[in-house]
Amino acid sequence: MNRIGVIGAGTMGSGIAQVAAQAGFEIILQDLSDALVQKGVEKIEKSLAKSVEKGRLISEEKERILRRIHITTKMEGLRDAEMIVEAVFEDLELKAGLFKQLDGLCSPETILASNTSTLSITRMAAGVARSGRFLGTHFFNPVPVMRLAEVIPGLQSSQETVEEGIEFIKRIKKVPIVAKDCPGFLVNRIVMPYAGEAMLAAQEGAASPTEIDEAMKAAGFPMGPLALNDMVGIDVGVHTFPPMHEGYGERFPVPVLFVKLLEAGRLGLKSGKGIYVNGLVDDEFLEIIKKIQSESGIRRTEFSADRLILRQVNEAVWCLQEKIASAEDIDRAMVLGTGFPVDEKGMGGPLHWADERGLDWVLDRLNHYKDSLGSRFWPHFLLKQYVAAGYLGKKVRKGFFEY
Ligand code: CAA
Repeated sequence: MNRIGVIGAGTMGSGIAQVAAQAGFEIILQDLSDALVQKGVEKIEKSLAKSVEKGRLISEEKERILRRIHITTKMEGLRDAEMIVEAVFEDLELKAGLFKQLDGLCSPETILASNTSTLSITRMAAGVARSGRFLGTHFFNPVPVMRLAEVIPGLQSSQETVEEGIEFIKRIKKVPIVAKDCPGFLVNRIVMPYAGEAMLAAQEGAASPTEIDEAMKAAGFPMGPLALNDMVGIDVGVHTFPPMHEGYGERFPVPVLFVKLLEAGRLGLKSGKGIYVNGLVDDEFLEIIKKIQSESGIRRTEFSADRLILRQVNEAVWCLQEKIASAEDIDRAMVLGTGFPVDEKGMGGPLHWADERGLDWVLDRLNHYKDSLGSRFWPHFLLKQYVAAGYLGKKVRKGFFEY
C-alpha cells in the first residue's frame, strides 16, 4: 500500500494524514472546501514545525512530508487510493453516504476504514458491497503523540483485511490493538465514563473544574479530564455520548453540561472557549452550572479521584467479561491511548490499578458510589466473582493478573 486517502481535514483527519505522510505514504486529503483542506494542511505544517523546533525533524524532511500530501475537494480525487480512512463528523448517515459513494468509485480491492469514536463498524460495512474490505481504525487525540490505534473488525471484515489494517498501523509507527466492534470499542468505552463522570462532578459542584483536573493530575494522569474534554471538543462529546447511552443504557448517562456548553457556542480549544477560557473558569460557565443545578436539584455531591477512576475500572471489567480484548490489551490500550498512569515497572491501566488497591476495596467503593450516586457504579458481577474466589489483587499475588 502506498496511496492513502483521508476524508476530513479536521483534528483527527489531519493528524492521520500527518502520521501516514511521515511514514512515507502518499496522501490524498479530502474535505468539502478549499478553506477546510487548507486549514488541515496548516495544522500539519504547525505540528511538523514544532518537531523541527525540537530538533526531532530537519526542515528538508518537513518539506518532503508536506509534498506527499495532496489535497482535493472532490470524492473523485480519492479514486486511486489503496486504503481510505474516513474521519468526518460523528454522524452515521453521513459516514454511510460517503462509503456508498466510495464503494462505486474505487477499486473493489481498496480498503475502506472509519475512524469513528463510537459508531458501529458492522452497520457501516453493511451498506457497502465490499463489506469484507471494511474495518475500523481508531486514532487518539493528539494523533501525532498518542501511540495507540485500535483496529476494529466488523462482523464482515475478512481476515486478510484485518491483517492489512494491522500492518498499516505498524507502518505508521503506531501500536495496533484489535478490539471487538461495540459502542466505543475498547478505549472510548473505558475513557468516556471517566470523562463523563468528571462532567457530572463539575455540573453538580462536587468540586471546581480546576480541583477536579488537579486531583486527576495528582493521581498520575497526564492531563485533567475536563481539559481533555476541551481538547477533544465539546461538540465531539455531544455526538459521542448518545450512541454510548443507546448501546449501554443508564450506565452511560449523557452529561447535560456537554449540551449546555455546546448551546452556548463553547466547543473547547477549537473555539477558544469550553469548560475553560485560557485555563480559567469564567462567569458564563458558573451561570451554566448554577442553572443545571437549579433544574436538577443535584448539587455538592462527593468528589474524589477514585470516583472517576472506578468508573474506568468497572467498564474495563465489562470489557474483560465480553472479551472485547484481553486483560493485558485493555490495560496497554489505556496507557498508550490515554496516558493512564504506570508504576516504576511500566505497569498500569485500570485493571492493574484495581489489583494494586485490592479488588475487595474496589468492590466496596463501587458499592458506596452506587448507593450515593446511582446505578452507573453498579459493580460488575465478574468483580464479585474475583472477590468471592479470594483473587483480591496484588496483595494475594492474584487478581486480574498474576504477580
Ligand atoms: N503535534 C505534535 N507534537 C505534539 C502535539 C501535536 N499536536 N501536541 C503535543 N506534542 C508533543 C510536544 O511537542 C511534546 O514533545 P516532547 O516531549 O518531545 O517535547 C510532547 O508531545 C508532550 O507535549 P507537551 O509537553 O505540550 O504537553 P504534555 O506533556 O502535557 O502532553 C498530551 C500533552 C500528549 C496531550 C498529554 O497531556 C496526554 O497524553 N493527554 C491525554 C490525551 C488523551 O487521553 N487522548 C485520548 C483522548 S480520547 C480520543 O482521542 C478518542 C476519540 O475518539 C476522540
